[in-house]
Amino acid sequence: MTDIELKTALDELTALSDPAALEAWRIAHISTKAIKDLMAPLASAPKEQKRELGQKINAAKVALTSGYEQRKAELASKQTVKMEIDVTEPGNRPAIGNKHILMRVIDELTELFGRMGFGVAEGPEVEDEFHNFVALNIPESHPARDPLDNFYLTAEGRVGGAGGSRPFLLRTQTSTVQIRVMEKQRPPIRMVMPGRVYRPDTHDATHLSMFHQFEALVVDRGVSMVDLKSTISQFVRAYFGEATRFRMRPSFFPFTEPSAEVDVWFEDRNKWIELGGCGMVHPNVLKAVKIDPEEFTGWAFGFGIERIAMRKYGVSDIRNFVENDVRFLAQF
Ligand code: DAH
Repeated sequence: MTDIELKTALDELTALSDPAALEAWRIAHISTKAIKDLMAPLASAPKEQKRELGQKINAAKVALTSGYEQRKAELASKQTVKMEIDVTEPGNRPAIGNKHILMRVIDELTELFGRMGFGVAEGPEVEDEFHNFVALNIPESHPARDPLDNFYLTAEGRVGGAGGSRPFLLRTQTSTVQIRVMEKQRPPIRMVMPGRVYRPDTHDATHLSMFHQFEALVVDRGVSMVDLKSTISQFVRAYFGEATRFRMRPSFFPFTEPSAEVDVWFEDRNKWIELGGCGMVHPNVLKAVKIDPEEFTGWAFGFGIERIAMRKYGVSDIRNFVENDVRFLAQF
């Protein structure tokens, strides 16, 4: 192979661009047969020229083979993939999340009470004993303060350091927010207060150790039990339907006097289920936030939001709300 022939072969290689041409070039120049032909002159060459000729042929072989490898790699990187796309095929809709059912119920409740003239307030979930107990007329000796019934925080969480006497706890009721509202605002007060509460309860179909309450508070001159009952009645009928039955049973809470429990009739389960407590705000509670009980009276209630959601949407197990099973959550 002359130098000219080698140069021509390498030029051809650079010029070709499709795989078939590349393969034809390979067969013509570096296939086993082509290499054999390339070496052939060596056999018949005079002895003294063999060495030089051998080196030359070898150099040509290396140039052809490496040139081939290089061109092959270049063509592979340039190769474009052709794809057939059917533009009429329906696309894949991305799954879109929705608001958690409890958050939706909270929105519905605050909206409904908003139409009845109630504002919305929130308070901290980590509370001190003053807001969770003292101001709510729950004395030191009261069983509600038992460590077995409360999530007290560790010694490090105590007000005034580890040696302090007033521990923090996760609030057990949203009634704490009544106190926070009355500390900031003078009557007339018309507020609802949704939020999370915590109790060391064993989980079952109707109990969780973390759940939500919906608290309401009205304080003004001349507020009476009649207002309380008619507000609850309006709420029950507006939210659950005109025909929904409810009842109020006399009860006891330290922060209300008189006190009652509210039950709603669960049609599907054929039984009364307690929504929560209510009553006339105890004079001691008003005094704790420096509102004169001689001048003002008030009513309050605190209902379980999960129970309201269960009644409204036919959920039979409270644990569904926290298990995050998309099949449950996506229904609402
Ligand atoms: N805080 C009470 C509880 O968690 C419920 C309650 C009762 C709230 C009476 C009130 C009320 O506002 O007036 O069991």
